[in-house]
Amino acid sequence: MISNILITENIQGEAVGQLAAEFSVTFLPDLWKNPAKLSEMIGSFRALIVRNQTKVTAELLSKATRLEVIGRAGVGLDNIDLDSATRAGILVTSTPDQNAISVAELAMGMMLSLARKIPAATDDTRQGNWNRQKFIGTELHGKTIGIVGAGKIGFLTAQRAKSFGMRVVAYDPFISPDSILLSELCAELVEIDELLACADVVSSHLPATPETIGFFNAQKFSKMKPTAFFINTSRGEVVSEEDLLQALKAGQLAGAALDVRSHEPPFKSELETLPNVVLTPHIAAFTYEAQVRVTRAICEDVGRVLRGNTARNPVNRPQNRRSVPRPQAELSL
Ligand code: MLT
Repeated sequence: MISNILITENIQGEAVGQLAAEFSVTFLPDLWKNPAKLSEMIGSFRALIVRNQTKVTAELLSKATRLEVIGRAGVGLDNIDLDSATRAGILVTSTPDQNAISVAELAMGMMLSLARKIPAATDDTRQGNWNRQKFIGTELHGKTIGIVGAGKIGFLTAQRAKSFGMRVVAYDPFISPDSILLSELCAELVEIDELLACADVVSSHLPATPETIGFFNAQKFSKMKPTAFFINTSRGEVVSEEDLLQALKAGQLAGAALDVRSHEPPFKSELETLPNVVLTPHIAAFTYEAQVRVTRAICEDVGRVLRGNTARNPVNRPQNRRSVPRPQAELSL
């Protein structure tokens, strides 16, 4: 029996209900934890909707003989074997801009948390202390933020930092120095070593790709200012956590805030014990507003594809798309 849509992570909301009124939706939010079961089930579905935890591997796709579309509710694609999906004729769609504001806002929160020591001061005050001198912080105003990866989220973070009176420098090998986004922020495109040497805050917005895994390593941390903060709201794999820990212990940078980890949930590490480290459980995109937008966008796109319309946010262009009925209205155009 062919079913329509399988959802393997916690993606809920009105938009899912609307999809369920038209298609049969199987909602199993914990299925990502059981790859064997997922592999058994996938063969009977036309669409799969995931977040970042379901591993959509070549092996899984070899079982997904009826799959026409994968909807990635979010922006990173590192959990999806895109080449295998493309070869198999499966369209992949995502929601690139829908959670960008939320991530940029968390990056600002991380910056303020580090500069003003908010989490450490909270812990101390909860213990009945009133240590005002211990928690003297630094202003962001007049400091330099180094944006590593100047895509949408990097841009929105820089825009917010700019409104705090920060100077913006950016590193991104894929954008041109004439980029309108850079000129809008009066931001300077620089090489990574220059960025690390001058930034008071280094904010990572890199996707996880074979080229970026372990990008922030001992060598990079050694080039940062001892007063600088490192923030990662992108992907944990782009940071060598052991190198970061050693650099923090050696005083090569002043603090770090990590929303994402190289292994999630993370193994226990000394990072958890350092007062100048702020840690959150991959919540950058987790705001009510972003989740409503992400869910709506992915449900709309998957629905469009299943009805035979074009996707609004495709991330691949398979040559041999699995055949889908084309709607009359579109044929007559
Ligand atoms: C994303 O890639 O969109 C974010 O990391 C959030 C998520 O994966 O759930």
